[in-house]
Amino acid sequence: MSSKANTVSVADLEKECPGLKFEKMTEAESAKITKQEEDLLALESKVCSHGDTVHYAERPNFFETCEGSFLYDGHKQPFLDLQMWYSAVNLGYANKRVNDALKNQIDKLPQLACQYLHKEKVQLADKLVNSIKRSFGVDGRVHFNVGGAQAVEDALKLTRKNTGKSRMLAFEGGYHGRTLAASSITSSYRYREHYGEFGDRAEFVPFPYCFRCPYEKKVESCELYCVQQIERKFDHEYTSWWNPKTKKAEFGAFFIEVVQGTGGYVIPPKGYFERLAKLCKERGILLIDDEIQMGFYRTGKLWAMEHVDAPADVMVFGKALTNGLNPLSGIWAKEELISPDKFGPGSTHSTFSSNSLGTAVGLEVMRVLEEGDYARSVPEKGKYFLDILKDLQKKHKEIGDVDGLGLALRMEMCEKDGFTASRRLADMMFQRGLEGNLSYAGQKMGLILDIGGYFKNVVTLAPSLEITYREMDMAHDLLDQLISSCKKEL
Ligand SMILES: Cc1ncc(COP(=O)(O)O)c(C=O)c1O
Repeated sequence: MSSKANTVSVADLEKECPGLKFEKMTEAESAKITKQEEDLLALESKVCSHGDTVHYAERPNFFETCEGSFLYDGHKQPFLDLQMWYSAVNLGYANKRVNDALKNQIDKLPQLACQYLHKEKVQLADKLVNSIKRSFGVDGRVHFNVGGAQAVEDALKLTRKNTGKSRMLAFEGGYHGRTLAASSITSSYRYREHYGEFGDRAEFVPFPYCFRCPYEKKVESCELYCVQQIERKFDHEYTSWWNPKTKKAEFGAFFIEVVQGTGGYVIPPKGYFERLAKLCKERGILLIDDEIQMGFYRTGKLWAMEHVDAPADVMVFGKALTNGLNPLSGIWAKEELISPDKFGPGSTHSTFSSNSLGTAVGLEVMRVLEEGDYARSVPEKGKYFLDILKDLQKKHKEIGDVDGLGLALRMEMCEKDGFTASRRLADMMFQRGLEGNLSYAGQKMGLILDIGGYFKNVVTLAPSLEITYREMDMAHDLLDQLISSCKKEL
């Protein structure tokens, strides 16, 4: 990780960073692009809703091309991407095998109504079902949809159908999407405040976020006090979640993320989910594992749930299944919950649910994952990246916490005391990275970061699983520059 940035030639750098190109433009060409972008920004501010997240940035960037770990703007300036579309592009931008699968399907069967079958749908479902059977020993079926929140909606319907209950348990800091039903199990009131009554709003319980333990305990001695607090709710009828007479809980399912994504890549302590899963089983509450952000080897295993000995009843996936190409999401559920007599024809449907482009791409992604060595390479790279973060933490006391599981990594930005959350510093890093005035080996570079966490002060890092060691060294130097310059401005 020691910086060799000053001695590396541009040619070597381009070799060690697949997809990296340094192309120069004349000042006149660049000025023309700037003018075009200004005109487009003025137009965007009139014709595009600001309801999405584009305007989180002070001046939204336009990008033109992408390859490997890099995005390029109209000035051909490279930006190292350390968040890869919120973990949707695990296999790198413009991945040839995955892109070719899309191109082949466009030439073969680009469109087909979902009421008819095509072979890729069945083959992909088979791969997903088998991967879960191999890991957890449970039989089940897959139901496809388009976006993550839609799959979450399907999981909610399946729960209601099987349990008759519309109340759910979920975590503080959990994020499951922004449709109305997904918002009802997502903890942020911000996403519900202006959208009416949420009578079926989940009951949110604290996540085991040990750096900022909600119970002010220490993980070495707490004996999982946070699970004990959940268990307590079932002690007798007056703790409110359990009727000892009917032996029924008030809730149909518990929606979990094994590593909290948008909540700040928070990794729970060992034994936590095993104990929670046991509790859910005893109380007849379905355990629903949202793998939308952490699935497909982000954490070093195909499914993040493989890190814990606690099989889920339902799993939800999306994002990286198609490496960010034609969207496809879905749920897997145990046979007894999703068998045709339980979840019959028409139970849920979207025009684009098992679109043939998405299934062909998803099938290729699964083949790439099966043929690759990600179970070894991702933890190895994750360890190297975590050491980089630890090194940065030694230099910058504003980094209060670093942690990682595979290539899901976190860096928590704080005040000088190393604990008080500094949203200002994290925001500044996000903005300055996008301005693209950093440098590596004498070349101008930008940095794409994502900020999450309860206090919006956590840099959540989700680099490409194909990231090279040179690119990680580059990340070290760029983050170091960025933190140093932002600290001066604070
Ligand atoms: C864990 C989790 N669940 C659900 C969603 C919603 O997925 P989508 O944005 O595709 O609707 C996300 C998106 O970030 C997520 O991270």
